[in-house]
Amino acid sequence: MFTVKPLPSVETTEEALVIGLFEGGKPFAGLAGEYDTRLGGQLSGLWKEGDISAKRGRIAVVHPFLPSGAKRLYFVGLGKKEELTFARLREAFGKLFGALKQAKRTEASIVLDAFTAGDVDENEAAHALAEAYYLATYEFSGYKQNKRERDYEMKSLTVYTAADAADIEANLFVGSVYGKATNSARTLVNTPGNLLTASDLADYAATLANRFDFDYEILEKEDMERLGMGALLAVNQGSKQPPKLIVLKYQGKEKWEGVIALVGKGVTFDTGGYCLKPRDSMLDMKTDMAGAAAVLGAMEAIGELRPEQNVLAVIPATDNMISGEAFKPDDVITSLSGKTIEVRNTDAEGRLILADAVTYAKQCGANCIIDVATLTGGVIVALGTDKTGAMTNNEALFEQLLEASAETGEFIWRLPITEHDRERVRSSKIADLNNSPGREGHAIMGGAFIGEFAEDTPWVHLDIAGTATAKKDGDLGPAGATGVMVRTLTAFVERFE
Ligand code: BES
Ligand code: ZN
Ligand code: ZN
Repeated sequence: MFTVKPLPSVETTEEALVIGLFEGGKPFAGLAGEYDTRLGGQLSGLWKEGDISAKRGRIAVVHPFLPSGAKRLYFVGLGKKEELTFARLREAFGKLFGALKQAKRTEASIVLDAFTAGDVDENEAAHALAEAYYLATYEFSGYKQNKRERDYEMKSLTVYTAADAADIEANLFVGSVYGKATNSARTLVNTPGNLLTASDLADYAATLANRFDFDYEILEKEDMERLGMGALLAVNQGSKQPPKLIVLKYQGKEKWEGVIALVGKGVTFDTGGYCLKPRDSMLDMKTDMAGAAAVLGAMEAIGELRPEQNVLAVIPATDNMISGEAFKPDDVITSLSGKTIEVRNTDAEGRLILADAVTYAKQCGANCIIDVATLTGGVIVALGTDKTGAMTNNEALFEQLLEASAETGEFIWRLPITEHDRERVRSSKIADLNNSPGREGHAIMGGAFIGEFAEDTPWVHLDIAGTATAKKDGDLGPAGATGVMVRTLTAFVERFE
């Protein structure tokens, strides 16, 4: 879809030519200046009127009447040069593709070099461009009998640049991988629970493993019984759908060392169990496997990019249902680690399945663990729906993740785990741990509980309950699943040391 070419002249005929504008300085320099001259100063006129603006987030479409070589000019406002970042540029491109999509434009050309400033060079701009294209134009196709017309897709996007074409192509590829992998995760999360069971998730993971030649293993219920994964089994007890523990291994180093484990909560539907959710909160609980989707999305990107790292993905998958067999409040269960858990709330099921998954990751040689989970409503109360909550037992590891998140624009904010918090998760009178020690700081309780199983292994917990879905359409994707953390996990793995 992308074609990289040297900078054009005003003589080239374009369906839609896209140019970036910075605040301050001369608005119409370079190619844009040539267009302005050819159009008898019409562009500067529109600029003076404020119809074309360099303010961040502004898109102006001009349809020149005089022969100009372009049927349409798209001006993208980028704000001040010194304030341009990779994340902001991606957002600007998101807005651009929103406008192109709305106008159903399938052909465009972009002057890439008009989008660079400071640290953001042509290569970063190419990455941002491709990533934004896939993110911004994503749609979930749904299940209507009379499907709407075919999904929007650009037929050709010409990228004009004076930079090295091979480098630009490589960065367009990386950006595309980031975008497409995020969209794969979005589709998994948007899929209803009846159509995406634990078995379906396992099949999906197996297909991914075959596509990228990953080693993989799917643990069945009998395997879990043999190994003693009492926590995952307890959550699954009320279900007709068998549980699956999905394990993928990507080995990018000679030896299986320095292993990064990505662990994702895969609850394909969360009714709450006997601590049943009220009907309004149960709605959308098909998205309770967004952690699993983030990990699978990251594995897709890792399979495409093949970094020199070792990555282990562990996904405990089940739904949380009620029946005569279901686990109950007051039950005491024994986890894979041997630690016993008093179940005080069957709706705090995520931490239970993650407990066994984290222990299993350690048994498979994990040197550090990142878990991703739609774990608590508490994190939404604390941080809203635009920030992922993080907890950790290792500053250095957290810093690396934070750096990756600054690149991808997926905001992370840390919450503390204190000795007092650890005492609270250990507060059961009859078992080692209590899965629900009360509502105060309960996002932290979720993290602290999982931390009991990470023990000394460097670990970060990401609570994406607020960020996994969006209520409104945004510049980088529609309402519904966001695919959050696919890109941050990928960027983290690529840079990990
Ligand atoms: N899956 C939910 C958390 C959730 C809430 C995800 C809203 C997405 C949106 C989780 O299993 C849950 O029910 N957590 C409880 C924990 C409580 C019982 C300690 C919660 O947050 O209320
Ligand atoms: Zn729950
Ligand atoms: Zn849940």
